[in-house]
Formats: sequence, structure tokens, C-alpha cells
Amino acid sequence: MSILDNRAALKAEIDKVAEVAGYLWMKGWAERNGGNITINITEFVDDGMKSLPAISGMMPLGKVLPHLKGCWFYCKGTQKRMRDLSRNPMENGSIIRILDDCSHYEIVADCPVAPTSELPSHLAVHDYLLAKGSPYRASLHTHPIELVALTHNRDWMEKDRATRMLWSMIPETKAFCPRGLGMVPYMLPSSQELADATIKAIDEDYDVVMWEKHGVFAVDTDIMSAFDQVDVLNKSAQIYIAARNMGFIPDGMTDAQMTELSNAFGLPK
Ligand code: 13P
Ligand code: ZN
Repeated sequence: MSILDNRAALKAEIDKVAEVAGYLWMKGWAERNGGNITINITEFVDDGMKSLPAISGMMPLGKVLPHLKGCWFYCKGTQKRMRDLSRNPMENGSIIRILDDCSHYEIVADCPVAPTSELPSHLAVHDYLLAKGSPYRASLHTHPIELVALTHNRDWMEKDRATRMLWSMIPETKAFCPRGLGMVPYMLPSSQELADATIKAIDEDYDVVMWEKHGVFAVDTDIMSAFDQVDVLNKSAQIYIAARNMGFIPDGMTDAQMTELSNAFGLPK
């Protein structure tokens, strides 16, 4: 028995998570247990789900997150592998609900798998998105090789320097990642400081932010769209690196070409 039985809409969302988890593994972005996914599934919760007993004790969130009252999430399990999750999402992740005190959660289904160690960042971001009235329901943390490599150089950590380079490699990048790439300086993985800095960067109006020397954190309406944004950005990083490997610095699209593109697609300048 699974909580997904006879819940087609909820199952479709979890199936998307499993599909994305498979892509992350195939791309080489998900070594061992690397990366994590959470999705806000509150809109799929029915009365039958509400009456389910918890299968864990009350766990502290570490912070009061007032906009998460009554919210439910699917979370990748800590130490679980994306490649396993892609075949078996409900054994490598679990469904949690936030308690009315907004500072604890409990696991509800299917197995008592403890959520990802990056839960502070994921839930703080979901709280922020709800507070803003955002339609975004998915957050993704992954370790894309070329984007992480960029952050090992101080120059690329300058605000919007990497954004401009990545946008100029191929027109689709700005079209499909129109807010660019935010930068968060190195902080201890799983820490509340990293969660706070991630929100600060997302609040500067980015959908995708780099955690220096670690990975990306991306948000979007659903997990497939969050993945797409990271995928187009990393593709641009690969094109840049391919050109450098051929012995030259790529020209990039000109400012005039970028302006023409922004006007044609109605993108921010
Ligand atoms: P988890 O296995 O706890 O999700 O951690 C993976 C990770 O990438 C931490 O940053
Ligand atoms: Zn990580």
C-alpha cells in the first residue's frame, strides 16, 4: 500500500520527481547521495490523507516558518541516492506535514525515511515563496559539474558576471532562465546560514542560485521546470568550456544581439 494509490494527480507529481532524479544521475550531477528535491504537495491533500497517523515523532524545523502551517511536502531522504529514487521514490523519500506550531514536522508516508539534510534551505525557501504568493512549488539542489567549477574562481562569483557570460553562449539560455544565476558565498552544507543566504539571493529575483564550491539551488512551478533552468545554464557553461578547450575565449553574443533577443521574447533587460 502506498499513499499514492488512487491519487493520480499526486502520483503524477511524484513521477516527475523520479524522472528528474534519473536525469540528475545520468548527467553526472548526483554522485552518491548528492542533491535533493522537495515539492509542496499541499494542493493534493484530501481528507483521507489528513486523517493518516504520523509514522515518526515530531521533528524540529529549527526555525519557525509561519507560512508553512498545514503544508505537506515530498522530500528526498537524507543519504538516499537519486539513481535509487528514480526507480523507487517512496522508499528513497517521504511525505511530511508541518504541524500547526510551524516549527515541527512529522513523517506521514510511505516509509519513515528522514528528509534531506538540506531541509532548512528547502523549507525556508518554500516559506518565502508562499509568503510572496509565488506559484512555485518545487525546489531542486544538485551538483552540476561545469557550474560548480565556475564558482572556484573569484571573478565568476562577482554579481551577474557569470549570468552575462552564460546568457551570451546560446540564445535559449536567457529565454529559458531569464532571471540569471545568483551567487551565494561558501557556507557549511545543511546550515541555517546557508538557508538564510539562499533566501536573500532568491529575493534578489533569481530562480537559480549557486552555492559556491558546492552546487545549485533552483525553484520553479514544478520540478521539471526547475531542472530545465539548471540544464540550460549548465549547457552554456559547457559551451564556454568547450571553446576554452579549443584554445580560444568565445566571443559570446553581442550586446545588440542580447537586446534584440530580450525585446523579441519580452525578457527583462
Ligand atoms: P542529503 O543526502 O542529506 O539530501 O544531502 C545531499 C547533499 O547534496 C547535501 O548538500
Ligand atoms: Zn549538496
